[in-house]
Amino acid sequence: MSIAEKFASMEYGPAPEDPKEATAWLERHGRRFGHFIHGSWQQPAEGAYFDTVDPSTGETLASVAQGSAADIDAAVKAARAASSKWQALTPHARARYLYALARLVQKHSRLLAVLETMDNGKPIRESRDIDIPLVARHFYHHAGWAQLLTQEFPDYVACGVVGQIIPWNFPLLMLAWKIAPALATGNTVVLKPAEFTPLTALVFAEICREAGLPPGAVNIVTGDGATGEALVKHPDVDKIAFTGSTEVGRAIRAATAASHKRLSLELGGKSPFIIFEDADLDSAVECLVDGIWFNQGQVCCAGSRLLMQESIAEPLITKVRDRMGSLRIGAPLDKAIDIGAIVARVQLDRIRKLVDQGVAEGATCWQPQVTLPARGFYYPPTLLSNVHPTSIVAQQEIFGPVLAAMTFRTPREAVELANNTVYGLAACVWSESINVALHVAAQLKAGVVWVNCTNLFDASCGFGGYRESGYGREGGREGLLEYMAPAWFKNAPQLPAAKTSAPPETQKEAELATPVIDRTVKLYIGGKQTRPDSGYSMEVRAPDGRLLGEAPLGNRKDIRNAVEAARKADPWAKATAHNRAQVLYYCAENLTQRRDEITRRLAAVVGEKQAAAEVDLGIERIFSYAAWADKFDGAVHHPPFRNIAIAMHEAIGTIGIICPREAPLLGFLSLVMPALALGNTVIAVPSETYPLITGDLYQLFDTSDLPGGAVNIVTGYASQLLKTLAEHDDVDAIWSFGDEANAAGAKAKSVANLKQVWTNEGRAIDWFDSNLAEGRWFLEHATQVKNIWVPHGE
Ligand code: NAI
Repeated sequence: MSIAEKFASMEYGPAPEDPKEATAWLERHGRRFGHFIHGSWQQPAEGAYFDTVDPSTGETLASVAQGSAADIDAAVKAARAASSKWQALTPHARARYLYALARLVQKHSRLLAVLETMDNGKPIRESRDIDIPLVARHFYHHAGWAQLLTQEFPDYVACGVVGQIIPWNFPLLMLAWKIAPALATGNTVVLKPAEFTPLTALVFAEICREAGLPPGAVNIVTGDGATGEALVKHPDVDKIAFTGSTEVGRAIRAATAASHKRLSLELGGKSPFIIFEDADLDSAVECLVDGIWFNQGQVCCAGSRLLMQESIAEPLITKVRDRMGSLRIGAPLDKAIDIGAIVARVQLDRIRKLVDQGVAEGATCWQPQVTLPARGFYYPPTLLSNVHPTSIVAQQEIFGPVLAAMTFRTPREAVELANNTVYGLAACVWSESINVALHVAAQLKAGVVWVNCTNLFDASCGFGGYRESGYGREGGREGLLEYMAPAWFKNAPQLPAAKTSAPPETQKEAELATPVIDRTVKLYIGGKQTRPDSGYSMEVRAPDGRLLGEAPLGNRKDIRNAVEAARKADPWAKATAHNRAQVLYYCAENLTQRRDEITRRLAAVVGEKQAAAEVDLGIERIFSYAAWADKFDGAVHHPPFRNIAIAMHEAIGTIGIICPREAPLLGFLSLVMPALALGNTVIAVPSETYPLITGDLYQLFDTSDLPGGAVNIVTGYASQLLKTLAEHDDVDAIWSFGDEANAAGAKAKSVANLKQVWTNEGRAIDWFDSNLAEGRWFLEHATQVKNIWVPHGE
């Protein structure tokens, strides 16, 4: 018998991990847990408990408190009470606490790993070798950020009290991703673990006590969706950070729209795993196994869509099936197990239903011959081939061990298929050609792209999505920014409510404009001056009531045309940073030349002094962003693997901008210029106070070589135009700078497609102070970070 044959015939014996330490911990608590509030265990106000179950057996592990609104209120009060002291600590003192948490996670790592596996059903190999080490790494890394905070972010302050809601697929890891950056930046926390997997969060509560963390800095309230909802709605929470389903992400966006709560969302995915014909197929298959069958496929960035170049589809599928046949499925505490249990019956039913629907839609289902354990919730590794790109199993997140396979012919088709999803969390690209791999990686709409590797995570590298996969990043410098705000912004006063943000009852025919007016302007769409679809116009008057001119009343159709023009403005989106800088400098030059006439006209509305300041500072501001255009670079991270991660600053895409009323020219330039500098295209609604500025602006852009469609200007009532912009699927972000009602409206109207929204929360921004109204804060909102992981070595 050859060695290869011996290997093939060798049976693994069971190698179970001993759960006695975890069982002893459960027993010590009488298998019953309250909430962790103000540093101690508290019984639930309403006395309700629910069971948490070991999904590999169906047996109850413990009963856990069901958090009510009263419990959430107590926890938020504790976090608020602890907030000022926690913020007042020196960076070094906070760093020591985070360091202590990291050390204690390591000290209790075996208990945490075993308990995680018992509560969640994931193989012990994964919780022991991946989840828990990454948890410790996250606290170490953020101990470092805490230490450096005031040096690196001198003018930033913590949000305050943050509410964090996490899912069940990586219970302790998601806790670490949330709590470490929040504490490092000076926030205090109320965290709600998922109802299926609360136990390791409760061990962590004890770790907080062991570390001597001030009471109230971290509070943990267990419960279900209703508990989460109470946290989201609590009026004294400053920020919500959520990981979970896109559906709940939407509900949270809607629930927080009218408040000033900051929001970061890490939602679902349907990530492509693209294999080109020149890939190292054996390595690709090995990583594919990890990509889709890691954690039973219950992974937001699972490589659940296999896109294979047609020429290699057959041999690849054969290899995948062979490998699937050798996957071991069974008791998760067995160290030799590849696939453990599904977290709960409801999730198992969901997987079954979706696979059945896929098969009904024409997919071919293949599963290896495996015997599933008699008890518990298990689902075999599953391959669906002949999947149509529009099939439910190609579009919807299954969150189970199910791979949907499709083919493509050319790199272009691969990119089209890959991006044919509402999500944009992660992607894998396999090719031995670095040119092809990086070219494709750059075109994928995803926050993370793994080239010739998969499922690599590190605290130094931001993780998060594009589109309906959510917004905000966790990890890295960009992750910290989610938990802070510029100090001046937090303290800025509220603007008074705007007087006329709704259209008048009767509108005026443009053709009937009175002849005494100074001028009329048109819309500016696709580099052309166009008449409004409505045929109506709005009067523009000076503060003394004098009629200054007429501006078109843009409507839905005009916005749609403008969006189409912006999407087509490839010459701008693809221009080099140097090119963009040149065009912006040219704009500044032309504004300088027309300084006097523009100042004179603007003075009729804002007075001579402000008009002069707007034009002069406007010229400076354009210069600043021309300077930034080729300097706001990303980073190269060196995670502790044989990889580098290239953190690219990518343009968001097409941004709809509602400009502030108070500084018609300077406000416009302060928002549109940073967006343009980084390669975004823009649909801007200029100040309702003086929309006639449009005429000056399009003359400026026309004479400055700005490609048509890079900036489109639609005048009209902001409240009406905002709705169409926010609901438009081809607008990637909304920036809305008006009063409080306007900010709430922008957020509420963007719920359906989970657009990124940035507003001033109705606060007054001093556009005339260049220390506040320009720079990195603006540029950060004009970009999203894409991490491209590239392996190196032989
Ligand atoms: P879910 O989104 O309902 O649960 C995630 C967390 O949100 C839990 O802590 C839950 O208690 C809480 N929650 C639920 N409703 C809430 C509300 N209205 N307000 C505030 N918090 C709320 O996810 P679920 O039901 O456990 O899983 C359903 C599907 O969601 C999965 O099949 C999967 O497709 C997706 N999912 C995606 C995750 C990801 O990491 N992207 C994680 C978990 C689920």
